[in-house]
Amino acid sequence: MLSRIFSKVSQDIAVDLGTANSRVYVRGRGIITQEPSVVAVNKKTGHILAIGNEAKKMIGRTPGHIVATRPLRAGVVSDFEATEQMLRYFIAKARKSNFFLNPRPRIIIDIPCWITEVEKKAVIDAAKSAGAGQVFLIEEPMAAAIGARLAVQDAGGNFIVDIGGGTTDIAVISLGGIVLERGIKVAGDKLNQDIVQFAQDEYKLLIGERTAEEIKIGIGSAFPQKENRRKKDNNQKEMPMRGRNLVTGLPEEILVSEEEIRRAMERSIRQIISEIKTTIEATPPELLADIMHSGIYLAGGGALLRGLSTLIQKETKIPTKIIEDPMTAVVRGAGMVLENLDKLNDVLVETEELEPLH
Ligand SMILES: Nc1ncnc2c1ncn2[C@@H]1O[C@H](COP(=O)(O)OP(=O)(O)OP(=O)(O)O)[C@@H](O)[C@H]1O
Ligand SMILES: [Mg+2]
Repeated sequence: MLSRIFSKVSQDIAVDLGTANSRVYVRGRGIITQEPSVVAVNKKTGHILAIGNEAKKMIGRTPGHIVATRPLRAGVVSDFEATEQMLRYFIAKARKSNFFLNPRPRIIIDIPCWITEVEKKAVIDAAKSAGAGQVFLIEEPMAAAIGARLAVQDAGGNFIVDIGGGTTDIAVISLGGIVLERGIKVAGDKLNQDIVQFAQDEYKLLIGERTAEEIKIGIGSAFPQKENRRKKDNNQKEMPMRGRNLVTGLPEEILVSEEEIRRAMERSIRQIISEIKTTIEATPPELLADIMHSGIYLAGGGALLRGLSTLIQKETKIPTKIIEDPMTAVVRGAGMVLENLDKLNDVLVETEELEPLH
C-alpha cells in the first residue's frame, strides 16, 4: 500500500548532458529546462559560482581566477566534479518543478554510443552522488530516433545523424538496436573554431567563440542560399564581426559575408559528409534499401545550419530531413522511454536490474 502511494509521487527524469546544451525532462511534465552546459568555478576557492545560463554569460568575461568551463568536452565526462554539480543543479530544478519528486529519482541519461565502460561508470557515479536513485543509460542516436518518432523497433532501417556541439553521431537503427554507429569530434563547436581561425588568418582579428557562434547562426551556411529564400527567412548576407586587431591591439569591426563564412567552415562540413558516406557504405544492403526510401534524419543543433540538409541530400542522393525541434530530440526520446518503459525498455543500455516503473 505504502509503495503504491510512494509510486504515485515518485517522478522520474531524463537528462541529456550535451557538450553545448543540457536538457531535463520530468516524467508526466515534459521538458522543464534547456541550458548551456557551462559551469563557472572560482579557481582560488574551488567553489562553483554558477551553472547553466548564468555561467554562460561569464564565458570570456570573467576575471582571471573565475573560470567558466564546459565540463563535457566532446560529450564525455572530462570533469567529474563539475558534471556531478551540474546533475545536482538539474535534479534540484526538477524538484522545484515538482514538489513531489522522489527524494532519489530514477534517471535516464543519454550517452554517446562510443564511450568506454569506465566513462559509463563515471556518468552513473556522478548521477548517484548527485542524488539519483537508479540510473539508466540510453545511447544518444537511439534517443534521437525515438524523439523523432521513427519506428525503431521495426525491422526496417533508420538512419540518424545527430550533429551536436562536440560530436556528430551517425547511427543505423533497426529492431530496437543500433546496427552500426560512427562518430567524429567535428560538429557545431568545430565550426565556431573554424570561424575564429578564419578571422585570425584573414583579418588578423581575434574574436571569441561566442562571437563566432553568433556569426555562424546569423549568416552561416553549408550551401549557397537562394536570394528569395534569404529574403523570406529575413536572413542577411553580411554581418559585422567584432574583435581585437592582433597587430594594433585595438578593437575593430569587419563586415564578413555569407560566402566567406561558408568557406571557413567548408573543410569541417566535408568531414561530416564523408563520415556519413562511410556509414552508408558500411550499411547492410537490405537496410540501405529501406533507408533510400525513408531517408536520412538530422538531429542536433548543427542540423539547423542553413543548406546542410540540402548538401547532404545532394552528396548522398538520399532524401534528407531535419527532424522537428532537432535540439531537444534526444531528451524527448529519453522522456518517451520513461513514459513507456514497459514497451521500450529493451532500447536501454543494460546497466543494472530494471525495476518496473509504476
Ligand atoms: N541555427 C543554427 N545554425 C547553426 N548551428 C546552430 C544553430 N542553432 C544551434 N546551433 C549549434 O548547435 C550546437 C549545439 O547543438 P546541440 O544542443 O544539439 O548540442 P549538444 O547536444 O549540446 O552537443 P553533443 O550532442 O555533441 O554533446 C552548437 O554548436 C550551436 O552553435
Ligand atoms: Mg546532443
